[in-house]
Amino acid sequence: MAIRKVARLGHPVLRQVGRELTLGEIRSPEIQRLVQDMIETMEEYGGIGLAAPQVHESLQLAIIGYEDENSRYPDHGKQPLTVVINPKITVLDATAQAFWEGCLSIPELRGLVHRPRKIRIDFLDLQGMQRAIVAEDFLATVFQHELDHLQGKLFVDRMEDMTKFAFLDEYQKYWVPGDDSDEGELED
Ligand code: NI
Repeated sequence: MAIRKVARLGHPVLRQVGRELTLGEIRSPEIQRLVQDMIETMEEYGGIGLAAPQVHESLQLAIIGYEDENSRYPDHGKQPLTVVINPKITVLDATAQAFWEGCLSIPELRGLVHRPRKIRIDFLDLQGMQRAIVAEDFLATVFQHELDHLQGKLFVDRMEDMTKFAFLDEYQKYWVPGDDSDEGELED
């Protein structure tokens, strides 16, 4: 296993649409190793998700997972580590919800992004089995952020109000959502 270098904003790989994987590829040692490397890389950087293009692999593959305790997201429960391959999103509730998003590929910045609050994701797992997850609230935003990476999109593309774009220090000083706010925060 190895920690991989994370592509940063400006690298063309982040703007490419990832290629779908075949069942044969999914079960190959190369992809199994890539997923292990992505898990190690995500843990190293303290992310809650990582998409293959972020480690310079233009593929329809992402991982998502976070703990509820000892994390930066104590109010959002936990999500077991999930490997998502060739995903398709269906919006179940288009009502917009807002989170301050960050991204390992856009370090030290946060931006407020509105996304649908409930979605279903149909995908293949690491064994090539068809799966579906219904995600709402925080988890729905996490999935949409990660799966955007597979389409060459970044959270900054989804921002509607560039006055809600801040360096981490300034975000923490001026913008951290209060208890009564309907905004949340996440960094992938
Ligand atoms: Ni990201």
